[in-house]
Amino acid sequence: MTSEARQTRQIIPLAKPVIGAAEEQAVLAVLRSGQLSLGPRVPAFEAAFAERVGARHACAVSSGTTGLHLALRSAGVGRGDEVVTSPFSFVASANAPLFERARPVFADIDPVTLSIDPDAAAAAITDRTAALLPVHIFGYPADIAALERNGLPIVEDACEALGARHADGTPVGGSGHPAVFGFYANKQITTGEGGMVVTGSAEHKERIDSERNQGRAPDMGWLDHDRLGFNFRLSDIACALGLAQLERLDEMLAARALVAGWYREALAGLVAEHGLTLPCEDGGGNVRGWFVFVVQLPAGADRDATVVALRELGVQSKPYLPAIHLMSFYRERLGHRPGEFPVCERVAAASLALPFFPQMREGQVARVAEALAQVIAA
Ligand SMILES: Cc1ncc(COP(=O)(O)O)c(C=O)c1O
Repeated sequence: MTSEARQTRQIIPLAKPVIGAAEEQAVLAVLRSGQLSLGPRVPAFEAAFAERVGARHACAVSSGTTGLHLALRSAGVGRGDEVVTSPFSFVASANAPLFERARPVFADIDPVTLSIDPDAAAAAITDRTAALLPVHIFGYPADIAALERNGLPIVEDACEALGARHADGTPVGGSGHPAVFGFYANKQITTGEGGMVVTGSAEHKERIDSERNQGRAPDMGWLDHDRLGFNFRLSDIACALGLAQLERLDEMLAARALVAGWYREALAGLVAEHGLTLPCEDGGGNVRGWFVFVVQLPAGADRDATVVALRELGVQSKPYLPAIHLMSFYRERLGHRPGEFPVCERVAAASLALPFFPQMREGQVARVAEALAQVIAA
């Protein structure tokens, strides 16, 4: 088989982490040190990460989900409270209030940025609202400045937004509110599984550090606990991996931005002729931290059939994201029905994630674009 034939037969995956010799050495060094957890790599990773996003404090945790849970607790969210959030997100942001017996109250999204619409969020606030939980979806900054005008605590879901910047130049995560990042293998940096809560508050830092570690204060002995806690720690192995990944963050973000640029060019014809919608361009000073390349198919296209047809052409794709309020658990538990959040529902029904990772080559982007053109034209 020629290499060209081999290439056309290879499936182009949706995502692929960049792991090199630096990561291997960093992890090996921890394994050889014998201190696999509660060691020096945890504060080292936290300090480097906090500096990177311009936050005062950072707490390494076992996942984005556990980070959201602890961040909401630190903001005082508890039983019977309401948390206003986006229905267009990964399910964890809506689940997090439920862990504390609080209720996620959805507000529709902005059709361009796809993050929570600040006016819809303001309209959803009641006297039970304890916090707002905006999501910087697909790495594009949510309008935190507009949400701040409501005067309520904010917890930011920044799991998809490492490297993004707000209009005033502040990095996402540097606004002072608790903000949660995720390090699952498809993210801008990965620790396999993992997360980081950043915050401007020393009290939040103290509480989250304790609650991730079974409710222990730093000066207490191993078996002394002064509050309820969890095991949401991140190991030294994971933190060493995270430190090595952070070193190459700029390079990986630049590579993702380059791939996004290739996609814009390669898909321009489908935009003009068929009404394909691409991720919004950076606007008003906001800068996206590229995470995924999600398009919205033209009206009338069968999204699920498109996924199948693309797979047959050797291209992985995924419906991304489904509307949370229409998931069976949310319909049954909270009584949601279609029609409540029309912008979210329209976008969710049409959106499709295409292969997107830093090592992607221009030829692969062209192959994806050709396959998509073929499927849309058929
Ligand atoms: C927007 C959003 N929130 C929360 C999470 C949860 O992060 P994790 O998978 O690390 O628990 C993710 C990760 O996929 C996410 O994309």
